[in-house]
Amino acid sequence: MSTDRVRDLFHQAGYTVDGVRGLLGPVAGAALARDEIVPALRASRGGTPAEILLRLFWLQVPVPGKALPFDDLIALGLAERDGDDVRARLHVEPVESPAGQACGYVVSDLKTRPGDGPLRPDHVVGQGGASANLAQLIVHRPVDNLLDLGTGSGIQAVHLAGRARRITATDLNPRALDLAALSFALSGVEAELLTGDLFAPVEGRKFDLIVSNPPFVIAPDRRFGYRESGLPGDEVCRWLVRQAPRHLAEDGWCHLLANWLHVDGEDWHDRVAGWIDGVDGWVVQRDIQDPAEYAELWLRDSCEAGTPEYRDRYDAWLDYFDGRKVTGIGFGWVSLHRSGGQDVRVEELRHAVDQPVGAYVHEVVRGRSTVTSATTLRTAEGVVQEQIGRPGAEDPERIVLRQTRGLRRAAQVGTVEAALAGACDGDLPLGPLLDAIAQLTGAEPEGVRAHAEAVMPDLIADGFFDIIG
Ligand SMILES: C[S@@+](CC[C@H](N)C(=O)[O-])C[C@H]1O[C@@H](n2cnc3c(N)ncnc32)[C@H](O)[C@@H]1O
Repeated sequence: MSTDRVRDLFHQAGYTVDGVRGLLGPVAGAALARDEIVPALRASRGGTPAEILLRLFWLQVPVPGKALPFDDLIALGLAERDGDDVRARLHVEPVESPAGQACGYVVSDLKTRPGDGPLRPDHVVGQGGASANLAQLIVHRPVDNLLDLGTGSGIQAVHLAGRARRITATDLNPRALDLAALSFALSGVEAELLTGDLFAPVEGRKFDLIVSNPPFVIAPDRRFGYRESGLPGDEVCRWLVRQAPRHLAEDGWCHLLANWLHVDGEDWHDRVAGWIDGVDGWVVQRDIQDPAEYAELWLRDSCEAGTPEYRDRYDAWLDYFDGRKVTGIGFGWVSLHRSGGQDVRVEELRHAVDQPVGAYVHEVVRGRSTVTSATTLRTAEGVVQEQIGRPGAEDPERIVLRQTRGLRRAAQVGTVEAALAGACDGDLPLGPLLDAIAQLTGAEPEGVRAHAEAVMPDLIADGFFDIIG
């Protein structure tokens, strides 16, 4: 098979994640991650097979037609002859999983760069920041069957192939499925490929893991199918979140990237929480943009900045948001878990968190537990206490418990919780600890117990304390 020979060629040439990393070094590698190719062009002038393939497929510049045996690449439609040169027809990039193991190749449309002009409407997007974010969010566990909805280049399925026994990849765009099929063949991944709208191709089926980086961009019209669904507002994300539980097997997980509207007079937490039904859910807002920033971002993404239509499109986008009373657009993650529970947590985490989140997401999506005097707790690993106050003052103005790992949450707490954080080592139940705290602080024991029962469930759910018994 020509795909096997192409994969062999890539491996022998050293066109692998490690090979490219070694070739580029940190500066050119970081520049390339920002889509700046000049340092990488300078680092790949030696004419080795790895440099030729990097220049051809990643940097997308013509290479001499006699530099390598290109026939299989041309037969697969990955490249074409142009006089004495060969140029890429598609972008082919080696990829590794978020855990850092090499896992294959991903084929997408050529990367566009500023000045390239607008994208084709059926553009198939390659590996990027959003796909990497989703890959890092996905729970680390082997699964029997996986659904990658809106597979595009197939990047998520390639990442997960080592963990899933059976893979189903769907997309509305038949070109995307053609390119995903090439990605899978070059990566040695077997998958069922289905064309169709959202969950329609898998009606009646259940999966242990559903992942999707859907067309979440909220736009006045559907111009680019890789990012816009054609449904109004944030309806595509609401619909996916609402429908996913019907397709989740017992103990199954679903991870989605999403955008949601902040609408004047509505609380965004309630709005998005209302999408989740019948499963545990965890929604994280990682960023928020105002309507103008949002329109600019996506006009730049489709290489439309500086075109004659730019101002009119920008204006129409703002009209669209004005008409819906939109004050901002949230970017984030949605994780759903069919555990039998229905705990929903919606929060904002804009700071850097430990990646990959998927390594510990199963601990994060946990419900609120009842706390009594008989409950035994242990302060979680990595929790530190910060005190802020006037120098020399006897009591701090503010006490903060901060996680130094994982989600790196911070919580402002009172003296009782701070004292518990110092005392809970998993030995004694809360009752005697709270009595001792009451004695030390001169507070009423009943009041201290009632306070702990009210506030500790949230601190436990937030991962500051673990329940031992
Ligand atoms: C943002 S891209 C994500 C591609 C890839 N999964 C990734 O993580 O990079 C969204 C994909 O969803 C597909 N898509 C758009 N509308 C869809 C629909 N209604 N049903 C299924 N897939 C759709 C697009 O063709 C595109 O491939």
